Amino acid sequence: MRHFLRDDDLSPAEQVEVLELAAAMKADPYGFKPLAGPQTVAIMFDKSSTRTRVSFCVGVADLGGNPLVMESSSTQAGRGEPIADTARVLGRMTSAVVWRTYNQVDLETMAEYSGVPVINSLSDDFHPCQILADWLTIKEHKGDLAGLTVAYVGDGANNMGQSYVLGAATAGMHIRIGAPDGYQPADAVVADALAIASETGGSVMLTNDPIEAVARADVVITDTWVSMGQEDEKAERIALFGDYSVTAELLSHAKPDAIVLHCLPAYRGLEIAAEVIDGPQSVVWDEAENRLHAQKAIMAWLLNH
Ligand code: CP
Ligand code: NVA
Repeated sequence: MRHFLRDDDLSPAEQVEVLELAAAMKADPYGFKPLAGPQTVAIMFDKSSTRTRVSFCVGVADLGGNPLVMESSSTQAGRGEPIADTARVLGRMTSAVVWRTYNQVDLETMAEYSGVPVINSLSDDFHPCQILADWLTIKEHKGDLAGLTVAYVGDGANNMGQSYVLGAATAGMHIRIGAPDGYQPADAVVADALAIASETGGSVMLTNDPIEAVARADVVITDTWVSMGQEDEKAERIALFGDYSVTAELLSHAKPDAIVLHCLPAYRGLEIAAEVIDGPQSVVWDEAENRLHAQKAIMAWLLNH
């Protein structure tokens, strides 16, 4: 039984397989029916979502299955039923569980007890489905991932920062994180990424200088400075991250043909300037669409392993 709880749950070769399957599914959206039956996939949310909700619902339907969307607040899990008990019930009736939650350890419990593949659709620590969509997008615009330089500027300690480090190392990319001191990915995550990068030829660079991070990069990425659950820290975060905004000036330090990604939702004028996200180097709408194709691929791949 395989799960997708963090980016390095796929080996480098497996990440390539999933991305190739995603491209094939994008080319033939209704040609793959691994959920025929229809089998049901439970899709549970402890946090808000637009893209993840739509892409998993549409994706499960495209694959011939039945998407069962649940807001945790209206389930017994939301009232304190143990996760292991919820997991065992979901596993008796569904073919896979997709869960957006806070604590990574809770996803591990779900995976341990459900008996079906579990997919992390965002936790406080990782957002691995987003990284698959991003890599599919970068492949479409830049070709082979290995050897590309990707700069992520902003909150390096959030789910996106940590997933970029692991996912890029897996893909053999050179990942640079430009974040204030104290907001870099966790040491343990960086150590795991460095071990993977030593096999794939990738590299990891951490800096508090946003220009150093972006210099001559092929891809420039940012994310909100205030992730879900951090709303109380909003004012201090906006003050702290001000120098890390992806403006046209910062982007001018990347390669002239660099592309810009943002997982969305975006806050124009904070982590990214309107002229950048709405400008010619931005590929954020391709990126958002690719959530659908990438997640169909990871669901099909897990069901087959
Ligand atoms: N990027 C992303 O996960 O978007 P949602 O929060 O809208 O699902
Ligand atoms: N880092 C953001 C990503 C949203 C998709 C958050 O967790 O809110």
